[in-house]
Amino acid sequence: MKKKNQKILVVGSGGREHAIIKALHRSERVDKIYAAPGNAGIADEAECIAIGVEDVKSLADFAEQNGIDLTVVGPEAALAAGITNEFQKRGLKIFGPTAEAARIESSKEFAKQLMEKYGIPTGGYESFTDYAEALAYVKNRPLPAVIKYDGLAAGKGVVVAQSYEEADAALKDMLLDGTFGEGKVIIEEFLDGPEFSFMCVVSGEKVYPLAIAQDHKRAYDGDKGPNTGGMGAYSPVPFITEEIRQQALENVMKKAAAGLVKEGVPFTGVLYGGLILTKDGPKVIEFNARFGDPETEVVLPRLESDILDLFEAAVENEDCELQWSDKACLGIVLASEGYPGSYRKGAEIKGLEPGDKTTCHMGTKRDEAGKLLTAGGRVLMVIGEGKDLNEARANALDKIARIDCESLFYRTDIGKQVLG
Ligand code: AMP
Ligand code: GLY
Repeated sequence: MKKKNQKILVVGSGGREHAIIKALHRSERVDKIYAAPGNAGIADEAECIAIGVEDVKSLADFAEQNGIDLTVVGPEAALAAGITNEFQKRGLKIFGPTAEAARIESSKEFAKQLMEKYGIPTGGYESFTDYAEALAYVKNRPLPAVIKYDGLAAGKGVVVAQSYEEADAALKDMLLDGTFGEGKVIIEEFLDGPEFSFMCVVSGEKVYPLAIAQDHKRAYDGDKGPNTGGMGAYSPVPFITEEIRQQALENVMKKAAAGLVKEGVPFTGVLYGGLILTKDGPKVIEFNARFGDPETEVVLPRLESDILDLFEAAVENEDCELQWSDKACLGIVLASEGYPGSYRKGAEIKGLEPGDKTTCHMGTKRDEAGKLLTAGGRVLMVIGEGKDLNEARANALDKIARIDCESLFYRTDIGKQVLG
């Protein structure tokens, strides 16, 4: 018998966590949801607890003291801080990989070595700590140059340089100026083709694939401007045929899961494959050790199965069949003017009902008077649903038109690549 009336703790404060909470609410076995620390939108659907995501000891104390049945981890920072290690040490159930397994995201070199060892298709690379050596290497290779900071840099540690000057500036930034911390970079072969995101729930060697999505990383229309955490996403992705999906599942995701087991760091949680469909098939740009944001917001609404069954199956290493809806979801991020650079917070947002079914809050808060305010770079993600992506987009735009806030911008071309 499956346990009913469960109490779930969701760790994180963004749109991804809001989407996870919306999915948990559809489960008949969930009684109460807590979020740490959550945000203003999440507060309409869960009880928010003021504990930061890296304060893993306090989170474990909270779970112990409040009889939490399962904790679901959103952000990489909590994983890298060892939240899973701490919970497991105390015998608390948690969905998310250990810090050691999460190195597939936090260390690009670890990920690259794993891919090399287990024959997972990816771009060739070299790693450098010395600025002059890195620069000389780049100058001997064709453009564009793909330069990646080796460590967590909130999606901003990658530069695809179209000129040697731009490459030089990035290397200076990463190796001489210490913008992100200790300096180490990977210089990678440029992979050409459309990108897609393949998230799989993984439990040791077991892999339960989720629906495929596509993110839009650049800030402005036409894929212009700086890289961001993601400005919009949609699912399904029509150019990923069943054959390509199978290739990605067998050659990438299953090999990675099995490789991590063989390396002695079995993975439990969401393994996110950031893939490029090259003319030689899908190749890996990066792995993440968690649900993607904003992909989760367009993938989970399509999941018809009970998400708690899935989380439990992963934690218990049991089999789980997933059912998916044919509906399309397309989500558009409303971000603060200036993001991903500096931006102002505290602008009022009007026109949004509390508990809106298809809006995920990414960075919002309420003031004492109950007004909804912007509180982050990415502020809201408005998700349109429909029988196809065109209808989903129209529904998203329709809702955006009703939101009133003077300091938000959004991309108007999310999904353009596939829209009719
Ligand atoms: P990442 O943070 O590794 O996902 O990289 C951010 C973005 O840079 C990706 O979404 C791609 O658009 C681009 N990118 C990263 N690596 C490569 C590569 N090897 N070839 C082409 N584009 C890349
Ligand atoms: N959307 C990309 C990520 O979550 O890293």
